[in-house]
Amino acid sequence: MEKTIEQIEEEALKELEASTNAESIRALSIKYLGRKGLVTRFLRNISNLQQEKRPEAGRKANETKNHLEALFRQSLKQFETVSHQPNGQVDVSLPGRSVRYGSIHPITLITQQICNIFIRLGFDIVEGPEVETDYYNFEALNIPKNHPARDMQDTFYISENVVLRTHTSPTQPRIMEKQRPPVRIIAPGKVYRCDSDLTHTPMFHQIEGLLVDRNVSFGDLKGVLTAFVHQMFDEETSLRFRPSFFPFTEPSAEVDIRCVMCKGDGCRVCSKTGWLEVLGAGMVHPAVFENVEYDTTHYTGFAFGMGVERIAMLKYGIDDIRKFFENDLRFLGQF
Ligand code: PHE
Repeated sequence: MEKTIEQIEEEALKELEASTNAESIRALSIKYLGRKGLVTRFLRNISNLQQEKRPEAGRKANETKNHLEALFRQSLKQFETVSHQPNGQVDVSLPGRSVRYGSIHPITLITQQICNIFIRLGFDIVEGPEVETDYYNFEALNIPKNHPARDMQDTFYISENVVLRTHTSPTQPRIMEKQRPPVRIIAPGKVYRCDSDLTHTPMFHQIEGLLVDRNVSFGDLKGVLTAFVHQMFDEETSLRFRPSFFPFTEPSAEVDIRCVMCKGDGCRVCSKTGWLEVLGAGMVHPAVFENVEYDTTHYTGFAFGMGVERIAMLKYGIDDIRKFFENDLRFLGQF
């Protein structure tokens, strides 16, 4: 008598249980489900059964076929994944997989370098909040409401009197409110502006500098910035101070350095001028001192602010500021 489908399935399961490798599972699959396999043959012979037995037998045989197919596939997968580990053990002689080391982001690196130079010059590091009040970001810095200087720094408003700071300068009144002169600080951090193109991102980094004491002159500002540029770039790099305007400094200047690419001959980077603008600076405006109740008859001071991305681009010869924020490891891994 022919075997029933239940008997065939039972035998198949027994044989599967006894299998110890992928090869024997493949053989089982052929034996039961192949073109001349036992289940296949059973299905083909259903037409020979009595008419009323056919539907039930067909249903059962198909069920068995699907069940065995799934089991064989699953077992095969198990054997294949452990096949490179003899007896299911770990091969300790294989070389280990190396862990990829991270690296310091170029902006962090340049920030650290800049801060270290000023620490050696006697400055302390302080930080201020990125979400700032209108008062510290503008008002205390002699930029009243509706002053045209605000347009240059249109920003993101959190509410009517709270903004994402547009520069690191609010750290000036904040520190001076807390500390009497002498003040000698550097304040690095993120700043925000409604601005986005090849050389501007809505978020970027600045480093603020402030020095207040008796008898501080513009000459001291020049001396400190010259020392900084010589250490950051090289001793040959010369500086140029151009008259400028900031509401919180008087006199104000924009500071250029000799183009680090062409050394002054004129190239694409410096737009053929031979000079590169790197920071804004000036003597602290008396109105700012009055806001923090500093005695302007005894104290003077200077302040400056520089863009970290700008310095990093010049130092490394990078032409697109957005590269810093795309998080492409091929770029970031080079620093
Ligand atoms: N805060 C100014 C800016 O973002 C730079 C600056 C700082 C100028 C300090 C003078 C003194 O453009």
